[in-house]
Amino acid sequence: MVEQAAPTSGSGPAGNAVPELLALNEVDMDGHRPLPTGIDELDRVLSGGLLPGSATLLGGEPGTGKSTLLLQALASLAASGRRCLLVAAEESAHQVRRRAQRLGADVPGVFVVEATQLPAIVEAVSRSAPDVVVVDSVQAVSDPAVPGGAGSVPQVRECAQSLVALGKASGAALVLVGHVTKDGSLAGPRALEHLVDTVLSFEGDRYLSLRALRAVKHRFGPTGETGLFEMGEQGLKGVADPSALFLEDRREGSAGSTVTVPIEGYRPLVVEVQALVGRASQVPRRFVTGLDPGRVGFLVAVLDRRAGVPLGDCDVYVSVTGGARAAEPAADLAICLALASSLVGEPVAPGMVAIGEVGLGGELRRVAGMPKRLAEARRMGFTRALVPAPGPGHGHRAPDEVSVAASLREALGAAFARGWPLEGAGRGGRKTPPGSAAPGRTVHTLRGMG
Ligand code: TYD
Ligand code: MG
Repeated sequence: MVEQAAPTSGSGPAGNAVPELLALNEVDMDGHRPLPTGIDELDRVLSGGLLPGSATLLGGEPGTGKSTLLLQALASLAASGRRCLLVAAEESAHQVRRRAQRLGADVPGVFVVEATQLPAIVEAVSRSAPDVVVVDSVQAVSDPAVPGGAGSVPQVRECAQSLVALGKASGAALVLVGHVTKDGSLAGPRALEHLVDTVLSFEGDRYLSLRALRAVKHRFGPTGETGLFEMGEQGLKGVADPSALFLEDRREGSAGSTVTVPIEGYRPLVVEVQALVGRASQVPRRFVTGLDPGRVGFLVAVLDRRAGVPLGDCDVYVSVTGGARAAEPAADLAICLALASSLVGEPVAPGMVAIGEVGLGGELRRVAGMPKRLAEARRMGFTRALVPAPGPGHGHRAPDEVSVAASLREALGAAFARGWPLEGAGRGGRKTPPGSAAPGRTVHTLRGMG
């Protein structure tokens, strides 16, 4: 905190002045409070807003909506009286205005300068004395004093360094846009992460409307918070109720579908996992969307070896719907149940969420944050939950009915209305008709705990 609070200018000639000793609790914080952008999902990730004099890098693949997000943020900042400067290094002022008109961001107080050369940008910043400067993008800026073309690593690094210094000296909050390529290398900008205070990553499938904003590095607050947006006709809109969005098109009662509750940032989200199992023609393949592919391979092996669910020779497709992600072990149980359900063509019990990690031995393991996951499930109208057996002294309070299971086998027995159809069938065993199957193993049902 000292580094942002300590004066960076006005203490005499750099290097020569005797630095002032400050009592930490008396450091003057005026002018060092975050400026809320007014875009709630962005402010959430920034822990309040953009800090004067700070530098933020917004990375993302081309087309994710970086320019759109920042234009909306500038318009909102300008509406609350901030002076905003957009350095358009990739687009013309006309193009920027056309987009702003579509976004309703065509407001006074946002200044735009078409510039790609560093000296022109420095000049524009000192002339307009803005509170917030956006440079879109840093890869399009070059410094004639540095060898190499715009976008080369030395250019990007030198230009970013100069811009960060300019922001610090002028007290403006600086935001640099950086394009990331598909393989995740911030084509130069990865080399910028240590130069800036905050690195935001904007992600999303360009064919889906959902976008997630995450803080990869943040000097002024926690990382791990996620902002969710939907890209629409009028730009980006914050998603106020992500669980509702992810469950929008869900059809209850289909085989291969389960619901689970991963925690994204600090928020529990209710999402649907879908699986499709097919006979492999040659080498079994796994197609995974929104989940960790290695984890899915692991779960297929555990189902096969520990729970008698013969998936080893099958092609397996698993996805989280709506462009959501569930890349944490708490989704394991739901993935396993979706696979098992698809294999036997039986839906899992209606109105049920499944939450829990699966271990190598086929045991179910507890996961953090269970109460808030269950509360979110209940809010979305789920009445049953299948979860790992709680440790002594831990009770679950929501939803109405919580079934606990100690192992994947037990969970399979509890998840299907008429018991697990393959109960008792060994590896590679044939499916016994549902109904004639043995009932599920001992499962405690905790009723009326809420
Ligand atoms: P853009 O902000 O230009 O992305 P980036 O700066 O990250 O490259 O947005 C790109 C996509 O967003 C573009 O393909 C069109 C789409 N889009 C909308 O769907 N609605 C809108 O209102 C806007 C401005 C863009
Ligand atoms: Mg852009």
